[in-house]
Amino acid sequence: MAKRLGVLTGGGDCPGLNAVIRAVTRRSLDRGYEVIGVRAGWRGLLEGRFEPLDYRAISGILPRGGTIIGTSRTNPYKVDGGVQAVLEHVGGRSLDALVAIGGEDTLGVAARLFDEHGLPVVGVPKTIDNDLSSTDYTFGFDTAVYIATEAIDRLHSTAESHNRVMVVEVMGRHTGWIAVMSGIAGGADVILIPEQPITVEDACADLRRRHERGKDFSIVVVSEGYELTYASGESRQVGQEPAASDQFGHVRLGGVGDALAHEIEERTGYETRVTVLGHVQRGGSPTPRDRVLATRYGLKAADLVHEERWGFMAALQGDAIVAVPLADAVAELKTVPREFYDTAKAFFG
Ligand code: F6P
Repeated sequence: MAKRLGVLTGGGDCPGLNAVIRAVTRRSLDRGYEVIGVRAGWRGLLEGRFEPLDYRAISGILPRGGTIIGTSRTNPYKVDGGVQAVLEHVGGRSLDALVAIGGEDTLGVAARLFDEHGLPVVGVPKTIDNDLSSTDYTFGFDTAVYIATEAIDRLHSTAESHNRVMVVEVMGRHTGWIAVMSGIAGGADVILIPEQPITVEDACADLRRRHERGKDFSIVVVSEGYELTYASGESRQVGQEPAASDQFGHVRLGGVGDALAHEIEERTGYETRVTVLGHVQRGGSPTPRDRVLATRYGLKAADLVHEERWGFMAALQGDAIVAVPLADAVAELKTVPREFYDTAKAFFG
């Protein structure tokens, strides 16, 4: 009997998910597997929502954003009977194995289910935040950086016309990868990130120095996860009101750009405006680089399934696609190295 392979996408969507689904499915169908899309991430396993993926289902999806099988932020460990439901389906009555495509939360669940119950699962690293360990890059990140860089380029001309400071808020819940990379690429004058927080006072001093040199417009890029940090040592995270969090305990961020712009205008007197890029960074077609990376990850995941290397994840190290333990990938977040931030800082002020 043909082996039944399930594929799920969990957490925030990102460009390239469909490219992975296509590659896993194509290679596995060619090997004689039956491939099943699990609807809406882990929730689909709790509710038994499956749909067959055949050659027709994956035709034409390579350049499409989003995920054809849907996603959710469901955590089976936070739902009564959730883990049991997953175990009944995977390695049980519905599926012989599972490919989980996700970030720290989705793959954290996969790693735990493998560790505690020997779930036959392999992982693929997805997130625009690029904060998973053991891999140089996650797919989706390149597209997000491209979109943010384009926005910064566009903001330059209007900033210059009006002599304004433009604050651009980008995604990045725990890490400043998108902010630093798009900021360097777009020539930002100040960049603020969660893991190496400069103070509001220092940011304003950089802007004043620039204006004193005769540049009367500036671009400031801030990660949504940056905590407003003051010389006094105080700091404060800005989240959405009313406060909400998901089943993984993450608060809904957003709004730090506004708060920062307010501080800048108050302290420097420079007219300031804010642009929040938000989910624009996650939508639409993946860049060629993300399409290629996602495709390579998908083929590797299908191979890991075929070799029954459960508990592993496809990863990029240098130019090579390799297998790494899921547990290592989710053990700690990959933050922006000091050297990258120093590169950005060379152009502050
Ligand atoms: O998937 C990562 C991410 O895009 C974070 O950068 C952001 O904080 C979060 O997801 C937003 O989540 P949601 O789509 O649930 O608003």
